[in-house]
Amino acid sequence: MHLGSPGNLSQLNAEAPWDAFDPKAYVDHNYKSVIPEDREIISIVRAHFGDHFRANPDRSIRGIDVGAGANLYPAFSMMPWCEEITLLDRAEPNVDYLEAQQLGYDQDWDGFWDLFCEDAGYAALPGDPRDRFAEVTRVENGDLFALSARREQWSLGTMFFVAESLSTSHEEFWQAVECFLLALTPGAPFAAAFMEHSEGYFVGNTHFPACDVGEPEIRSAVETYAEGLRIFTVGQPNAVRDGYTSMIVACGFRGGGN
Ligand SMILES: C[S@@+](CC[C@H](N)C(=O)[O-])C[C@H]1O[C@@H](n2cnc3c(N)ncnc32)[C@H](O)[C@@H]1O
Repeated sequence: MHLGSPGNLSQLNAEAPWDAFDPKAYVDHNYKSVIPEDREIISIVRAHFGDHFRANPDRSIRGIDVGAGANLYPAFSMMPWCEEITLLDRAEPNVDYLEAQQLGYDQDWDGFWDLFCEDAGYAALPGDPRDRFAEVTRVENGDLFALSARREQWSLGTMFFVAESLSTSHEEFWQAVECFLLALTPGAPFAAAFMEHSEGYFVGNTHFPACDVGEPEIRSAVETYAEGLRIFTVGQPNAVRDGYTSMIVACGFRGGGN
């Protein structure tokens, strides 16, 4: 995902220009087609959720995608099992984009859904996936840091390229991971993706900050609130843009101890 940076000056989440986030430029750069990294991430998340719900069937839970932005595939990953999926984002243009996609998502996303359908749990979803997306998603304009007041409200969760891509602050990175995981019920399956050692990124002509975290720091933030954690390294340095080393995917279950 996203373009590289001119340098990563210190910037807190509240200081970044979220309402200048251009979802069209973002999708054009990142999700116009399925790249090998997406394919690998989808196969990891598909197996994690598909295997869990094969052993623990349920079709009536609430899921959340935190910092959904202009990416529908984390919501796709939860679609077979959720009667409701919250798509939370603080940027108004992304909220507008998601609401427009509820009316019938763009064809670009079909290739992503098709990949999920390589698992029977997804392929068995009856009806048109566009109808299902429209029916179950609830777009919410909000701040993920406010999730600290909404503990244990969702039973399935995703957060893709958000905690490390919302400011330069390590403290905010840790807080974002904590807010995401504490919003889930104990035992809830989750998947989170991170850009490792990101130097910040452009969306169109607008620069957004990132926090430079490596695999050990990502692991230690997530494992504080998780059990059964598995960490995957995906892709090569700078394959999608300049200024990062790889993508990290963390899959597990919300731990019961916090
Ligand atoms: C790099 S984008 C990732 C978007 C998408 N999840 C993806 O996989 O491509 C970071 C997203 O985090 C959102 N964001 C940043 N700060 C946030 C906050 N405090 N609360 C909720 N969303 C936030 C941005 O609006 C943006 O959509």
